[in-house]
This record gives sequence, structure tokens and C-alpha cells, in this order.
Amino acid sequence: MVKVEDIKNIAVVGFGLMGSGIAQTFAQAGYNVVGRDVNEDILRRGMESIKSGPFGVLKAAEKGKIPKDEAEAIINRIKTTTDLKEAVKDADFIVEAVFEDLELKKKVFAEVDEAAPPHAIIVSNTSSLPITAMAAATKRPDKVAGMHFFNPAPVMRLVEVIRGLQTSDETVEVVRGVAIKLGKTPVIVNRDITGFIANRIGILGMLEAIKMLENGVATKEDIDNAMKLGYNWPMGPFELADLVGLDTLLLVCNAIYNETGDPRYFPPDLLKRMVTAGNLGRKVGKGFYEYKK
Ligand code: 3HC
Repeated sequence: MVKVEDIKNIAVVGFGLMGSGIAQTFAQAGYNVVGRDVNEDILRRGMESIKSGPFGVLKAAEKGKIPKDEAEAIINRIKTTTDLKEAVKDADFIVEAVFEDLELKKKVFAEVDEAAPPHAIIVSNTSSLPITAMAAATKRPDKVAGMHFFNPAPVMRLVEVIRGLQTSDETVEVVRGVAIKLGKTPVIVNRDITGFIANRIGILGMLEAIKMLENGVATKEDIDNAMKLGYNWPMGPFELADLVGLDTLLLVCNAIYNETGDPRYFPPDLLKRMVTAGNLGRKVGKGFYEYKK
């Protein structure tokens, strides 16, 4: 079994909002990273956000989180490719962060399993899909776990480490150790229930806020202020939904609802309509609020 201290090379498969943030987090902690996505455009945008995004390395240097002369070295530790085999062939630890679609994830896991070294651990950054199903698509289910980061990945301190049905204790320990090396605080989720710990609770706050807006209880600004000023949340539920992405929010609540049948997670019409309209939040410049590009 690979030891935490032997892990040097990381592959991040899926280089969107979360994947690029996760790649940056590993590079900031000194790891060599290869980021992979299906086209050069996504890779270019990911690198741009790692460099000069709101939580990119230049901002981190400006805020004194990393030494100024480290910024370039961190960027240089991240390579990108569209070739999956190339990305994982020397990896000790692989993070899957593709779109939240179980069939796609299973396909990626099977391909990664074929091409990665036998000792490599494969984790998924899924926010709601079953780790056990992804593990079953590989010949190494004991070396598959969940490693759920929060947005923005370089800043948020939590990592949920999720045990699938066949994940070994050693794998859980290694993933936990890696999270600590990243400067994060891991929590262990012993059963891969949909939504794990944080989303099971956090999503309800956002859904309740949307239902209140839909029912005319209060304006979105007042609901956001209520939670920021009354509960000291750093962001109101609508600001947070825009940050997470309304498409992601809808996928997560549908996944929890489908698995549990619990009506509290049933998506409000307003959320569904906003996703249909393409008002997905900050990443497109418009969600509950408008954002300058
Ligand atoms: N590395 C390390 N630290 C960094 C950094 C980097 N690359 N870039 C910035 N930072 C630090 C800053 O120095 C600052 O630290 P400080 O508080 O010690 O000064 C901190 O990050 C915050 O940065 P800013 O001051 O620029 O930004 P704000 O104070 O406006 O905070 C925010 C922005 C962190 C997004 C805050 O509003 C927040 O915490 N919002 C809530 C986010 C949240 O709840 N995320 C979870 C979403 S749910 C999810 O992702 C799960 C999914 O599955 C749905």
C-alpha cells in the first residue's frame, strides 16, 4: 500500500471549476500535478483561474498566503493534457472531478484504472454520487474513495473523506493523510450516503431559501441578510447557490431526493426554471444575482 509520504505525482481528471481549484490546492502544497480535460479551451480557462482567478495564486501571494516568489513555481508544477492515459500513467494519486454524471464517472474510473499504476489511489470529488458504484467500475475497489472538496477549493478548510463499501481502512487513512498535507481538516464519512455530511445539511438551507422566495415570504436580499447578519454565514443562501452553481445544486438535491425519497430535498420549481433558462450562477455571470464578467 502506498504511503502518504510516497505520494508525489497527482492527476486531476476534469479541469473545470472544482478540478482546477483542486489541482491548485495540490500544487500549493508542493505536489506535481497533471490536469486533464477533453479540450484545450477548458484547460486554458482552468490555468487562467489558477493564475489570476479570485482565489488564484497571484491573489494568494498578494494576501500573504504563499511567498511572492512561490507563485510561479506553483504554476509550473501544474501540467495539462487532453490525453487521459498520459495524465495518469505516472500518478500515485488520482482525483476525478468530471461532471456529476454517474455513467460518465464510471467510464472515467474504468479508463483511469486501466492506465494508472497499480499502486495508485483513485478518489472522486463527487458531491452526491455513490463511491461504491465508481469503485465497482475498477479492478481496485479497495483503493477507491471519495475526497470531497468545497468551493473555492484552495480556501475552504474541509475535505470529506468517504468510504465506499469496499474501500480499505488503509486507503481511508492515506486519503485522510493527504488531506492533512494539503492543510485541510478531513472528516470521515463511514457510509457513502448521497450528499455525505455537509451537503445533506447545507443544501437544505439553500432549498428553504429558494422556497421562501418562491412563496413571497421575503426578497432574496433580505433572506441573504438574515443569514449573514443573524447566523454569521459568510454568504447568504442565494449568494452561495450562485457560487456553487444552480445546475450543481439541482443535481445534488435530485440525487439526494432520488435516493432517500425525502420531500425536503425535492427541488423547487424556481430552481428548475432558472437552470432551464441557463441562469446558472457566477460562472455564467447571472444566477439569483448578476455578476460582471
Ligand atoms: N490559497 C489559500 N488561501 C487563499 C487563497 C489561496 N489560493 N486565495 C485566497 N485565500 C484566502 C484569503 O487570504 C482570505 O484569507 P483570510 O481570511 O485569512 O484573509 C480567504 O482566503 C478569503 O479570501 P477573500 O478575503 O479574498 O474573500 P472573502 O473574504 O470575500 O471570502 C469566500 C470569500 C471564502 C468565498 C467566503 O465568502 C466564504 O467562505 N463563502 C462560503 C463558501 C462556501 O460555503 N462554500 C461551500 C459551498 S458548498 C460546496 O462547495 C459543496 C458542493 O458539493 C456543492
